[in-house]
Amino acid sequence: MCRAGCVRSLTLAVVVVVVVVVVVVVTPPTSSFLSCSEHGAHVTNWTVGGRDVLFLSSKAVLDGSKAIRGGIPLCFPWFGPSTHPDSSLQHGFARVSNWRCVDEQQDGRGLTMELKDSDVDPALLAGYSDSKFVVRYSVKILDGSSLGLEMVVKNVGDVPLPFSLAFHSYFRVAAASVEVRLNATGVRFLDQLSGSEGVNAGGVVEGFGDREIDLVCYGVTNPIDIVTNEGEKRAKSKGTEGGASANATTVVTIDASDGLRDAVVWNPHVAKSKAMADFGDEEYREMVCVESARVETPVVVRAGGEWACSLRLRVFR
Ligand code: BG6
Repeated sequence: MCRAGCVRSLTLAVVVVVVVVVVVVVTPPTSSFLSCSEHGAHVTNWTVGGRDVLFLSSKAVLDGSKAIRGGIPLCFPWFGPSTHPDSSLQHGFARVSNWRCVDEQQDGRGLTMELKDSDVDPALLAGYSDSKFVVRYSVKILDGSSLGLEMVVKNVGDVPLPFSLAFHSYFRVAAASVEVRLNATGVRFLDQLSGSEGVNAGGVVEGFGDREIDLVCYGVTNPIDIVTNEGEKRAKSKGTEGGASANATTVVTIDASDGLRDAVVWNPHVAKSKAMADFGDEEYREMVCVESARVETPVVVRAGGEWACSLRLRVFR
């Protein structure tokens, strides 16, 4: 079990360089702070300019006895309930396994953690008891406003390795004014609350704080923006550096690699918040989960092969 000593904290002081980009009003934050736990290879905190970008519940359990509520849990090698008849484990075993830190940058900017099949409690492996794998996960402060996450899954066995995954990121927000903007129109989605499928014509999810939201969106083109006010809509295209109008404040832009083609948007609202022992009754007002994921079609890594994905979170103010 992971104890408090497992938590590694990294700090980075960044020299402020003000770059003026047309139509973007950005005040570059001055410093970043990163904290990770080997329990679940979990990013527990990331602050930029002294402000928490990620939400960590005041009731999160940090003693390794369960998945940590908040930060960035890893859902792997399945998302949601297990399809294996003997397993009731939600979101896979990665977030409840003890990873090992195998590399830590001397400048304190990041670390790499690793999980092998032999590290996982056999009782949690469900349909994966014949699989041999090594998962390497690197977390790195890229600059004073960006965090980089990279994962490489190696199949070191002799049978194909299928999996789904999600970077189950909890973002700290002012819920009353939040919009999640998917960079696409006509986004297909599954509403996990009703079980119905539909198409989100405008690619915008809103209503946080007013209702429970649990959407799996398919075929999302990154970046995704979490925007905190009702300012002017902005034209987005992959590769734009924020591109916000002067009236819109983008809190976080999520840019995931092509393999992470799905996104899950979740807010528990009142009833589910009360039902979760490790989540405050009112905390649904302070967070939104926007998860970069691969859930519609699983990845299948051939024997001896590997698959990689990456994610960049960037803060604008
Ligand atoms: C989300 C799911 O990813 O995680 C929700 O879409 C689920 O259905 C939520 O309720 C939280 O899951 P857990 O297992 O961390 O309570």
